[in-house]
Amino acid sequence: MSDTNNVDIVIFGGAGDLAFRKLVPALFMAHMHNKLEGNARIIGVGRQAWERDAYVAFINEKTRPFLQDALQEANGETCWTSFLDRLYFASIDVTQAGDYKRLSALSTAGAQRVFYLATAPSLFTQICSHLDSAGLIDAQARVVLEKPLGHDLASAKAINDQVAQHFAESQIYRIDHYLGKETVQNLMVLRFGNAIFEPLWRSPNIRSVQITVAETVGVGSRAGFYDQTGAARDMVQNHLLQLLCIVAMEPPISLQPNDVRDEKLKVLRSLRPMTDVDIKRDTVRGQYKSGTVEGVAAVGYLAEENVPANSMTETFVSLKAHINNARWANVPFYLRTGKRMQHRRSEIIIEFDDMPFSIFSGAANSQPNRLVISLQPEESIQLKMMVKEPGSGMNMRPVNLDLDMRSAFTERRAEAYERLLVDVVKGRLTHFMRRDELEAAWSWVEPILNGWAASGEPPKAYNAGTWGPAASSALMARSEHTWFEES
Ligand code: BG6
Repeated sequence: MSDTNNVDIVIFGGAGDLAFRKLVPALFMAHMHNKLEGNARIIGVGRQAWERDAYVAFINEKTRPFLQDALQEANGETCWTSFLDRLYFASIDVTQAGDYKRLSALSTAGAQRVFYLATAPSLFTQICSHLDSAGLIDAQARVVLEKPLGHDLASAKAINDQVAQHFAESQIYRIDHYLGKETVQNLMVLRFGNAIFEPLWRSPNIRSVQITVAETVGVGSRAGFYDQTGAARDMVQNHLLQLLCIVAMEPPISLQPNDVRDEKLKVLRSLRPMTDVDIKRDTVRGQYKSGTVEGVAAVGYLAEENVPANSMTETFVSLKAHINNARWANVPFYLRTGKRMQHRRSEIIIEFDDMPFSIFSGAANSQPNRLVISLQPEESIQLKMMVKEPGSGMNMRPVNLDLDMRSAFTERRAEAYERLLVDVVKGRLTHFMRRDELEAAWSWVEPILNGWAASGEPPKAYNAGTWGPAASSALMARSEHTWFEES
């Protein structure tokens, strides 16, 4: 156990979906593996008129299913019991200044306070201001802001301005859980720790970059949030653009937060703005219809609970982006994300250029080398190489040079939220977004959202269990590319 000071981790939205599915399990794993300070306490905040016992019972019921494997370990149940001792609850209507005295009463004097705002972003401002009035924000306090931060550039700026009245930028942790994923962090090591890639990692050696985050799940019980948000705001503005930044950024001068974030910001600022013509030609919005996903029948988006019958919200986006700088001139970055897709798969594919000329027979089998970085479901890095087919003749065939991260490292691998929550407690900002990054991402995405809205066109239908609308393949075909779906 660390011997640092007391820590109070206060979760606004403490009884919400994110808290019991992700945050509390992540904190439990940190507890189980001695990464949480001995005196750390977790204070759930919610409107429920609960005493502490009711909250503990709620978490015990709701969170356990997400910890099946860990609880079955030899010390699992004992750890769970000692973890529950860390839980507290403050019954607060976050809009009522007077209620915050309940949080003050619970707070440990002199503790490092971490406020995790897992609520609707529209409440962030009030929460920060009431925390301040209640005297709960001191120089060592930290605030974690969940995505999506705002609905567009103006609302993101407004939230940032208001939060900045109460917290310095160095106290603000804008979370994008993709930055906590092991393979995403590994991508930096792959790029900047392996000399073979550096000279190749640029135009014209790279023909294209594909970033896919495909999910098989539908909107589930989140329609209230999702229908107001859509895939572009939910996934592209944050997760996909962050992945793009890590693929495309220049080597930072160090791993210090601002050095890394400066380089990511430059990428975002170099994204070529899309004109109306680009939006029409190079972006596709889709919405799933009914279908079969991995053998199970799925209803269409419009038939999901709480989705308005005439909803035009997109559940799929694909687009072609360009980065206007010397490293990436003329290299298309294809981004794609969707719900109810054929398989759950998040991967980054770097497609290298063709051999200019082939001396081999069987050159018809020749394929450009591809580096495939899989984030999930499995973590792996594969390099597709051309090799000689056994036998007479010099025929080629693509074969994988395969690094399976799970077999290379048998150690336990922390989930993204666990890693990032520990970073917050330790004060490590590198894997969180800075204000200017977030605003640059909105600046690029917003014209696309506006273009779609102005066109009035509904999203293109795709069957659940497929790779999205046909228009998404057509987008690639126009540039003589294809999505690598069987990699
Ligand atoms: C969240 C989105 O940020 O990321 C969800 O709001 C999405 O809609 C989720 O399902 C995907 O995360 P992961 O880690 O399961 O790929």
